[in-house]
Amino acid sequence: MTAEPAREARIALVSYHHKNTEKIAHAIAEVLNARIVAPKDVGPDDARPGDLIGFGSGIYGAKHHQNVLDLVDRLSQSTGARAFIFSTFGAPKFLVTPTFIKKNHDAIREKLLSKGFTIVGEFGCAGWNTNSFLRYTKGLNRGRPNPEDLDRARAFARSLTRSDP
Ligand SMILES: Cc1cc2nc3c(=O)[nH]c(=O)nc-3n(C[C@H](O)[C@H](O)[C@H](O)COP(=O)(O)O)c2cc1C
Repeated sequence: MTAEPAREARIALVSYHHKNTEKIAHAIAEVLNARIVAPKDVGPDDARPGDLIGFGSGIYGAKHHQNVLDLVDRLSQSTGARAFIFSTFGAPKFLVTPTFIKKNHDAIREKLLSKGFTIVGEFGCAGWNTNSFLRYTKGLNRGRPNPEDLDRARAFARSLTRSDP
């Protein structure tokens, strides 16, 4: 009997404001050799035991993009699948408390846990933000993600490979 080949890691991504999260997704994908897909291209039964799936977007209204949240709602119970969560946020430094990233992830984490996923890691970093009136300025977090952010994203991805079963 031949063993089933290991399935590649996947990343479900929405990144539209300045493609900030897309930069992070590519850095992670390089390390994991993962495929980046749009939420609409993930089927309800696409998360199977042993799979590793990343869920990433910018933070909009203190949570992930609605298309990523809706994707998790659409997924079948996925006990045994592993998930990681990542995001970029536009808040200025003085608002970024130690729990800020975790709080932004609360909505999606709760959904993933209720679907039976094991959360193997979470990552967040600043992203250029010209939302609303900021468009008349240089915006917040200009230049982010920067090369150091991308290095941190790669290190995060390497830490996930150590959680392989
Ligand atoms: C409509 C909108 C709402 C946003 N809401 C928040 C927010 O609640 N908190 C925050 O820190 N940043 C917020 N931002 C900033 C984005 O999270 C930030 O710019 C992010 O890096 C965008 O990612 P993207 O370029 O991958 O879309 C918002 C941006 C937009 C356009």
